[in-house]
Amino acid sequence: MKKCLKSLAVAVAIAGTVTGPLAGLASANPLTYELPEETTVFKPGPGIEAAENNCAACHSADYITTQPPHMGRPFWEAEVHKMISAYHAPIDDTDAKAIDDYLAATY
Ligand code: HEC
Repeated sequence: MKKCLKSLAVAVAIAGTVTGPLAGLASANPLTYELPEETTVFKPGPGIEAAENNCAACHSADYITTQPPHMGRPFWEAEVHKMISAYHAPIDDTDAKAIDDYLAATY
């Protein structure tokens, strides 16, 4: 029983520290902030337009530039295919091929 009371006291103490700052947040004025400028751009290369038009709609070019270098065409083909089949990226075949070529040659 004694043990029980002790853990209750701990729980109350934790609840106190959690509600403290949250209560402050709830009464604060709405925050406004500006997102940072997009800093990652696609590397120049043949077919860059296809990538710019199709591969930056959902996420930044970071997702591409942070992949290991020189992964080769099969890797990029699979990646582009995954965007289309898993994430429903609306990219037609012609653009997809251009993007495969561009990524394989440039990254
Ligand atoms: C319809 C939205 C959409 C479009 C358009 C899109 N992606 Fe993605 N992409 C995603 C999502 C969702 C993820 C997974 C995000 C996560 O896991 O955090 C992702 C992740 C990635 C990754 C990280 C590795 C991985 O497989 O998760 C790479 C590389 C990538 N995308 C490349 C591309 C390329 C190249 C294109 C253009 C052909 C593209 N994306 C277009 C939605 C999209």
